[in-house]
Amino acid sequence: MKRFGKMSAVLALTFCMSVLGACANGGNNQTGAASEGSATKAGTTITLGFSQVGAESGWRSANTKSIQDSAKEAGYNLKFSDAQQKQENQIKAIRSFIQQKVDVIAFSPVVESGWDTVLKEAKDAGIPVVLTDRAVDSKDTSLYVTFLGSDFVEEGRKAGKWLSEQYKDTKEDVNIVELQGTTGSAPANDRMAGFAEVIAANPHLKVIASQTGDFTRAKGKEVMQAFLKANKDIDVLYAHNDDMALGAIQAIEAAGLKPGQDIKIISVDAVKDGMQAASEGKINFIVECNPMLGPQLMKIVKDVVDGKSVEPRIVTEETTFTSEQAKEALPNRAY
Ligand code: AHR
Repeated sequence: MKRFGKMSAVLALTFCMSVLGACANGGNNQTGAASEGSATKAGTTITLGFSQVGAESGWRSANTKSIQDSAKEAGYNLKFSDAQQKQENQIKAIRSFIQQKVDVIAFSPVVESGWDTVLKEAKDAGIPVVLTDRAVDSKDTSLYVTFLGSDFVEEGRKAGKWLSEQYKDTKEDVNIVELQGTTGSAPANDRMAGFAEVIAANPHLKVIASQTGDFTRAKGKEVMQAFLKANKDIDVLYAHNDDMALGAIQAIEAAGLKPGQDIKIISVDAVKDGMQAASEGKINFIVECNPMLGPQLMKIVKDVVDGKSVEPRIVTEETTFTSEQAKEALPNRAY
């Protein structure tokens, strides 16, 4: 019966999309790219509903590709929805996945708060939820099976440690500006907290301005322009991702300053464009955040469907890059 219901839903969705151009899925870019493959449980293809944050950065594009490629390779029926950085779109997508009775829902929550109601709906419908990349702040951890992704606080600490080491003997104040990620998102909250925790040990390290650049290149540039206008002596930029750092570099160069020299730059991600800028000495230090979560996610999904136990927290392994290390790693960088 379940198999019949699922096939009907897929057929109805396909019909609806071809006739109307889009289904009643809350205006999301949801697609039902079915690939009938080998990933079966008792002869049934696993259907995974995945709600992605958006396409705000190079990291996000690499993450989307990793998820789509590995779902295809695993032979899953992937229903992929792009929320365009809006929580309401993600909630609609999750409700749509519940209606379609997918086997597992996975999502990367754009912000940390406000998920309890929809996660409870998934739980009541008996559909397991896997968090990938970003966490939620729900007190009730039974609302999801596991959280696969980076330790963002640790990433912030790594950035702070490198900076503290650079200025350990300073007798003067070091003026730092910070480009935060999307307001309310786990990586913005945690990267800020980890960095602040470490630099607090040196009273000369001062964050003189901190504002969101929404993880995008355009906003990074815009906010950096404002920082430069308002502050004469900026020594360091700490950007929560490469894209904002790259936008800021454009603003710094337009102001007649040398990124990496006049203003030291630390960023997070280590995507190709960021690594290129680091290898040119424009970014001094990058903390890696690994977007290639697809293969691990597909394994988790299979284990969940097969009723196997899954660790409640799976942390991604990551490293850091100085300019020299970026130059070495760049030729083999996959994303
Ligand atoms: O959640 C991961 C973060 O989201 C990445 O660091 C950033 O580039 C992306 O937009």
